[in-house]
Amino acid sequence: MTEVQRQIEGSGTVRVGDRTIHRMSFGAMRLADKAIWGPPADRQNAIRVARRAVELGINHIDTADSYAFGVTEEILREALHPYPDDLLIATKAGQAQVRPGVWEPVGRPAYLRQQCEASLRRLGTERIDLFYLHRVDPQVPFDEQIGAMKELQDEGKIAHCGLSSVTIDQIESAQRIIEVAAVQNIFNVAARAGEEVLEHCERERIPFMAWFPIMSGELALPNSIVAEVAAELNATPAQVALAWLLDRSNVLCPIPGTSSVAHLDENVAASVLRLADEHLARLAPLRLAENELAQLLAAGSAKE
Ligand SMILES: NC(=O)c1ccc[n+]([C@@H]2O[C@H](COP(=O)([O-])OP(=O)(O)OC[C@H]3O[C@@H](n4cnc5c(N)ncnc54)[C@H](OP(=O)(O)O)[C@@H]3O)[C@@H](O)[C@H]2O)c1
Repeated sequence: MTEVQRQIEGSGTVRVGDRTIHRMSFGAMRLADKAIWGPPADRQNAIRVARRAVELGINHIDTADSYAFGVTEEILREALHPYPDDLLIATKAGQAQVRPGVWEPVGRPAYLRQQCEASLRRLGTERIDLFYLHRVDPQVPFDEQIGAMKELQDEGKIAHCGLSSVTIDQIESAQRIIEVAAVQNIFNVAARAGEEVLEHCERERIPFMAWFPIMSGELALPNSIVAEVAAELNATPAQVALAWLLDRSNVLCPIPGTSSVAHLDENVAASVLRLADEHLARLAPLRLAENELAQLLAAGSAKE
């Protein structure tokens, strides 16, 4: 094991079904262009980032069918296929990007099935390691959406099922039909509305994948309490935001996204950063109001 690989060990591990992953993970959405609508300007750079993730010991990469119409899945295949045995690639279906930055749930079983088949082809695999229902579609009976995942699992097309942006009730309803191997909800040091779901996942030992972990880069900016704590620890603000998540719960896996090798290195190095009680106390009051969070989400493509 190299020195850089040793860092990620510091983040600890969780079980996703029968698989074990390091908690510090990687979100591939930023491998597309800025609007998550087309290919990146520099494809070779995106490939370097994906390869560097694996080099650093990351063994859980998150993507989706709708990130630039499958571009991020294609890049992962180009960069990493044949995949290392221990690499778990998670993808999603059930949310369409109908215009740049405008996302709509689509949970009809035929659509979920089609998108699963398309992801299998783009990823170049016979089975998807972890397949999420990206959004619950209020216009389709819930059990039909979960039933579609169950069918895909029974057919061997997906190994494990996950749910994204869900409530405790939805997790429990889904568990009557499938085993929920992971939950993926928005969560970071300043956006903690998902705390009850996180605590439910802790009780149930379900891994909780936190999306928006550095708030689309907002938490990496200077002149904040996060930046003050970072300066004291000789770390960067993004690292403090990630270390806070790792500290918050041992079922929590941050999935920071980046298009930069330097940021990726920095983010993985946060695996060994420890916050003292005094730092945690100073970060505790940091809460974004709901309208501020909505504005941030609306400002970028991350609003999916
Ligand atoms: N389930 C869902 O509904 C859902 C929704 C959104 C996202 N996701 C998943 O969650 C992942 C993360 O979401 P996200 O990308 O929106 O949020 P994020 O990880 O909080 O923020 C990513 C942004 O932060 C910047 N960044 C990353 N590391 C940095 C560092 N060390 N210093 C400064 N800036 C840094 C990146 O810019 P650079 O490229 O310049 O580094 C990028 O613009 C996605 O990749 C995707 O897999 C899931």
